[in-house]
Amino acid sequence: MTERTPVDPSRARIDLRSDTVTHPTAAMYERMRAAPIGDDGLDGDPSVRELEAYVATRLGKEAGLFVPSCTMANLLAVLAQSQRNEQVVLESTAHMYTSERGAATFTGLFYQGVTGANGAMDLNRLEDAMLSGGHRLKTALVAMETSHNNAGGAVLPLEHMQAVYGMAQAAGVPVHLDGARLFNAAVALGVVPAEITRHADTVSLCLSKGLSAPVGAVLTGARPVLARARVLRRMLGGTQRQAGIMAAAGLEGVQAMGDRLIEDHARARRLSDGLNRLAPALSATVPQTNIVQVETADTGMTNVQWVTALEDAGLLTRPWGRTRLRCVTHRHIDDAAIDRAIEAFKKVLASR
Ligand SMILES: Cc1ncc(COP(=O)(O)O)c(C=O)c1O
Repeated sequence: MTERTPVDPSRARIDLRSDTVTHPTAAMYERMRAAPIGDDGLDGDPSVRELEAYVATRLGKEAGLFVPSCTMANLLAVLAQSQRNEQVVLESTAHMYTSERGAATFTGLFYQGVTGANGAMDLNRLEDAMLSGGHRLKTALVAMETSHNNAGGAVLPLEHMQAVYGMAQAAGVPVHLDGARLFNAAVALGVVPAEITRHADTVSLCLSKGLSAPVGAVLTGARPVLARARVLRRMLGGTQRQAGIMAAAGLEGVQAMGDRLIEDHARARRLSDGLNRLAPALSATVPQTNIVQVETADTGMTNVQWVTALEDAGLLTRPWGRTRLRCVTHRHIDDAAIDRAIEAFKKVLASR
């Protein structure tokens, strides 16, 4: 066997494209190897059952369902709580709206975006959107997202979530929370996740972002809704067999990786502070969690040119809208990597 050439960490590329690039931890690999497994499509898989029960309890819900992706968790929450020709109301830059509403082409549902600020819906617009009668569609579900990806990782204030939940309940409409990065929000607010999830009926939690598991998400909620979601998961082909191997890594993620997210938040802030020292050419959002958006409009370069130039300088980022870049911190990014990332931005600025 040929030996692998060791990677010199000072020359490795810094990957700030997403927290989804995180690899499993050594403890995850060990739990995957030792996990009791079964057939989750036949008579059940013990590790999957353990994950589902554990996440449901942590989030203060009756039941959980392990699914291959957070997109599927959100879709199942919608399908299990709505009928064709009804609508889902949500903030108009929510991931479920900007990136997942294509599902409407086969679900027969409509997604109604509501304008807002920092990921929080304008409550007057929400009230309008939920009105029924005449030409209006019946609202089947209201959805929120925290932390909020497109709002630069903003965390919804709990008072806002409570207000939305109260309005929806008064209208007899269930609420779903896209908590892909719920643990980031909890750490940022300094509360346990259940303090956030009590303002929603169903919640999706992604295991493969900052929590570092290789794949998967868990949908949680009341038993009857989750029973419907389980049937729908099979219809979508989302029932997996020896899925306990993946569930074991997910369990390690939710049990051991939540508290360290505070480090990712501090590093996002370090990045933002460093980039804001390069003003006025560049400006960066001040993050509440692990996402920083960098405004490049005043640099005379397009964001696609920026992505390429930064890549040449050893830094991977993603274009976000026409003039912004998105940088996401995660477990593989240490302080030295942040400092090198700032240097890469400086280098590109100097070479314009
Ligand atoms: C807020 C939010 N929800 C849902 C998803 C979908 O997750 P997945 O790619 O695991 O399906 C993402 C992915 O980035 C996200 O940021």
